[in-house]
Formats: sequence, C-alpha cells, structure tokens
Amino acid sequence: MIQPVILCGGSGTRLWPLSRKSFPKQFVPLIGGRSLLQLTLERVKPFGQGQARPETICVGSEEHRFFIRDAAEAAGTAGTIILEPVARNTAAAMALAALHAAPDQKLLFAPADHHIPDIDAFVRMVQAAAPAADAGAMVIFGVTPSFPSTAYGYVEQGAGNSNGGFAVSRFIEKPDAQKAQQLLLAGNVLWNAGIFLCTAATLLHALEKHAPDILAACRKAIANPARDGDFLRPDAQAFAACRSESIDYAVIEKHDNVVVFPFSGAWSDVGSWNAVADLTPPDAAGNRISGNGSALAAETTYIHAPTRRVVALGTRDLLIIDTPDALLVAARSAAEQVKSVVAALEAEE
Ligand code: GDD
Ligand code: MG
Repeated sequence: MIQPVILCGGSGTRLWPLSRKSFPKQFVPLIGGRSLLQLTLERVKPFGQGQARPETICVGSEEHRFFIRDAAEAAGTAGTIILEPVARNTAAAMALAALHAAPDQKLLFAPADHHIPDIDAFVRMVQAAAPAADAGAMVIFGVTPSFPSTAYGYVEQGAGNSNGGFAVSRFIEKPDAQKAQQLLLAGNVLWNAGIFLCTAATLLHALEKHAPDILAACRKAIANPARDGDFLRPDAQAFAACRSESIDYAVIEKHDNVVVFPFSGAWSDVGSWNAVADLTPPDAAGNRISGNGSALAAETTYIHAPTRRVVALGTRDLLIIDTPDALLVAARSAAEQVKSVVAALEAEE
C-alpha cells in the first residue's frame, strides 16, 4: 500500500497578490473553482483503494488548519493533519510524517501546489516505481525540461536499472540562469518534479546520515504529540529549534541511492503567473483571460479578473492580476521576480 503525504505548508509568494501569507496559493480556488490542494488530494485518492474516504496525511501550518480540513472535506479524503507551529521547510515536514508512519510504510510525498491533469498517468507512474521504493531507493520523478528554469532542481539521468528507473549521476538544485542553460544544452537532464516515493525507514536513514540534527529535532517534537480530532500537534518548542532546509539540499543532493522515474504526462509547478496563465487557453492573439477581463487590440496579455471588469487596450506581454485590495501589473518576463515584490512590501511595513 502507498500512503500519500501532502506537503501544504509553503507560502507561494510568487503568486502575489492572489496568494498571501494568510492564504497561500495552494488554498486559493484556481482551477474550475477548486484549489490546488483539493486537486492534489483528489489525485492521490486512487492509492486508498477500497477506503470510503481515502486516508491521506497532510503536513501544513497551524495557521491554515481549517483550510486544510476544508480541502480534505471537499476532496472526500480523511486522515491525520500534522500541524507545524512554524515553517521549517520540507526536510522537517517530511521527517515528521515519516516518524509518524510505520517504518516499512511506503510514503508518497506530493507537493500541494502542482497541476497534473492526467490522474491515471500519475497513478501509473507512481505504481511503476513502487518496487524500487520497496527495495530501499529514494525515488524521485523527472519531467523533460522545456526552458532553462532557475526555480527547479535538475537531475542528470544515468544508466537504466532493471526496475524501470534510472540512476541519478548528479542532482543540481536551483541552478543560476547560466548553469540552467548549460544543463539544457548538455541534454540528458530532467526537472525534479518535487514528488518523492520511499519507505519511512529509507527517509529516516537518509536523514540520519545527511541531516541528523533535523531528524533529532523532529523526533523530539513528535515524541508526544497532542491529538485533537484529525489534528496532530508536535511540540512547538522542540520543532521551533529545528533547522530550516529543503529536502533537496538536506538529503536528495547528497544521497547515494536516488532513482529517477521519468514522467511524460503534463506537469506544472504553477510557480509563477506565467504558469497560471498557461492553464487558460489563449485566443488568436495569445491573450488569456480568466474571469471578467477583455483584451482589445492586445497581444499575449493575461488578465486575472475574478470580480471587477478589467480591460487591457493595446498591451503586449503583460500580466494583470486584480484582487480586491491589490493590483499587479507586470511584464511577463518579470514573472519570476514577483517574489521580491513581497519581500520589498514586507520591508516597507
Ligand atoms: N508542511 C510544509 N512545511 N510544507 C512545505 C514547507 C514547510 O515548511 N515548505 C514548503 N512546503 C511545501 C510547499 O507548499 C510545496 O507544496 C512543497 O512543499 C515544495 O515546496 P516549494 O517551496 O514549492 O519548493 P520549490 O518549488 O521551490 O522546489 C521544489 O519543487 C520543485 C518542483 O516544483 C524542489 O523539490 C525542486 O527541486 C523541484 O524542482
Ligand atoms: Mg513549488
């Protein structure tokens, strides 16, 4: 059996002003009125075959507990919601779930903020990798890169092995633009899709080896958790003492038994407004309109207008994101820099 674990504690600052600290992108109704978290929970439901409400562990922030519970309700899943009192990044979040699970349990760690429309292809991909995970590998999934992104991890695909996966000869987390370009030209690289499959014991051994301090802090934090219905609360003081690092830097980059399974289905990290825009079909001039917008004599303009009427006239390569209390107008080429807007606004406050 494969136990899904959904990581939903990120802040999603690249989708400001729609995504806020108090209401990050994974909870925002983004596709057909459903949030990315709800869609993620629906995507992993097939792993709970036979369960009326498939059991799914969610790990997220105390502050967002009701958003998480509501998404599980809407998706028709059940299960423990591990609440972090403070964010300590993905290594700690995954450690909490692995410590909570039985050691031989296969865990599928899935980010809450991806768009993968073909559920069957996703399920087949994960099932194909199950024997490798049972044999002790840390399985990651790779997507063929389409541009030199600096927001993803890259894996260099090594020799194929008998279980259908490939050895990873190198892992490069978030290279700079020049390095990303080089990697793409060299070929033979895949983007790390950010989805991991391994047994709880495999992850705990890897943490013991590469990040023993993170494991020790999480072990202490979850030794005597407080139960409150579906909510499980680790000890706040012990967890706050944990180092904050992503699983990619803390473990995956350093680990020797990482196996990659290529995924050929559509996948998007929905990590920037350009990625969100791509979810809406374009008109003949490449404009994409979500909600109450119109683009006149305009080209390649994206309008997100859930309420007010928003009109773009004669614009090109523009992102227009309207919300009740903030408006973003950005060049499409600046989409990756929206994160810095949030940092600048915070500094002003
Ligand atoms: N519970 C919890 N706690 N979840 C977290 C935390 C945390 O402190 N921080 C992040 N997450 C969740 C996010 O909500 C997201 O679903 C997932 O973990 C991944 O975190 P991101 O912050 O979105 O990572 P990333 O996109 O920068 O990079 C990762 O994903 C890429 C693909 O999307 C890396 O794994 C890259 O290598 C990969 O290419
Ligand atoms: Mg992400």
